[in-house]
Amino acid sequence: MTGKDYLPPRGMRDLAGFDAELHEYLVSEFKRIAVLNGFKPVIPPTIEFFKLFEAKSGEEIKKTMYVFEDKAGRLVALRPEVTASVVRIYLRLLRGEIKPVRLYYVSQCFRYEEPQKGRYREFWQGGLEIFGDPSLNADLAVALTASRFLDEISIKHCYVVSNVAVHRAIMKKYDVPSDIQDHILHLIDKSQIDEAISVLEKQSSEAVDLMKRLLVLPLDKLLEFVEEIGLSEEEYSKIINETKRIIGFIEGLKELGYKAIYDPTLVRGLAYYTGLIYEYKVEDVEFNPSIGGGGRYDGLTTVYDGPFEYSTGLALGLDRIALILKDKGQVKTPVIVNTVIIVLEKVPLIAGYKILSRLISIGVSGWVLRAKKIGKALSTASRKNVDYAIIIGKREYESGKVAVKDMNTGEQIVVDIDSLEKTLVEKILSKR
Ligand code: HAM
Repeated sequence: MTGKDYLPPRGMRDLAGFDAELHEYLVSEFKRIAVLNGFKPVIPPTIEFFKLFEAKSGEEIKKTMYVFEDKAGRLVALRPEVTASVVRIYLRLLRGEIKPVRLYYVSQCFRYEEPQKGRYREFWQGGLEIFGDPSLNADLAVALTASRFLDEISIKHCYVVSNVAVHRAIMKKYDVPSDIQDHILHLIDKSQIDEAISVLEKQSSEAVDLMKRLLVLPLDKLLEFVEEIGLSEEEYSKIINETKRIIGFIEGLKELGYKAIYDPTLVRGLAYYTGLIYEYKVEDVEFNPSIGGGGRYDGLTTVYDGPFEYSTGLALGLDRIALILKDKGQVKTPVIVNTVIIVLEKVPLIAGYKILSRLISIGVSGWVLRAKKIGKALSTASRKNVDYAIIIGKREYESGKVAVKDMNTGEQIVVDIDSLEKTLVEKILSKR
């Protein structure tokens, strides 16, 4: 199974060894932080009907979707992102819950993109979504939970923030049809600003003037600018609220010590955003892709025939985060003490498993090695980077004792089995 035929498909990866451990660590930390911040899990299926993503995924994502017919001829897709599925699940199973409904997930996504460093065809997202809360509190709740996760794993990050409601309001005022609005935003997202402006030119030259100004406007001029657009009263109050939200979002983040930059050229690739949008960038690293992003998508529920619902959320790209941690060479994984329990001949194997249960109960990991010769067993332990070997020889076993060998220093002590946990905690673990 080593030939070319047995490589994974292009853009897919086998994770093993340290890469798999790092991945598992990020997944468990993300979940731990989400739960500590009051989010509940949701687990969507990997395959959905294509039409779930058709409506609002955005041009780029639709182009790169894995779409196929199942055996019964139904058009299905491997999910390119998770928000659409979570909206579907919210509508189907959770809309009767007390609001706000706070959900988290860690799921694989699939996009048939050109693979490169940090861009894969299968990748993992850790996401947070809140339904039923129109306030800034919900936006800060998801963003700060993500920040706490990133802080925990020592990723120094900053926010790039924008307000796509203003871009859309300009185009709506000049009757640009919503599919053309989506296309223009898609071009801005791909940094093809000139192309975007020339598409808009064909729709309205007044809209072009406003859009050009917006794309270079500083944040402190944004409220004034919204007043100038000449929106209907209803539209005006909606856009002003959304603009105040992004100002509050940026100020809130700054007050908590995070860097947040306003950038009106950020529009994001997904077509469902309605206002605040943002991306996470990592500071002080050479390889600096977006490690996550999110925003408000109020009313996406109506696309799936549900009642209007306020909603906001984000997703972090766990594979890119893993890559950055590896590049930095300072991965902070939990300190786990690894032991091997060497059960020598003439000692019942089960004695080893009794000791293992006691180690696990104090959070020490281990595995049992049956051995004839202590020398060979210790050499295996050392090659597997074990921290401590707990040796049960016949003599020790009969006198209710075990030997504990520090594999780094070579120091060995003999302790009573009954006080093994106490010895490990006091003499060994507390010194780490
Ligand atoms: P997104 O920006 O498309 O947003 O993806 C979120 C993150 O997934 C990206 O910032 C990136 O880190 C990671 N990612 C995307 N494509 C790839 C790829 N090909 N390879 C590796 N990593 C990738 C969403 O998907 C939205 N659903 C986020 C959201 C949730 N908005 C509201 N709620």
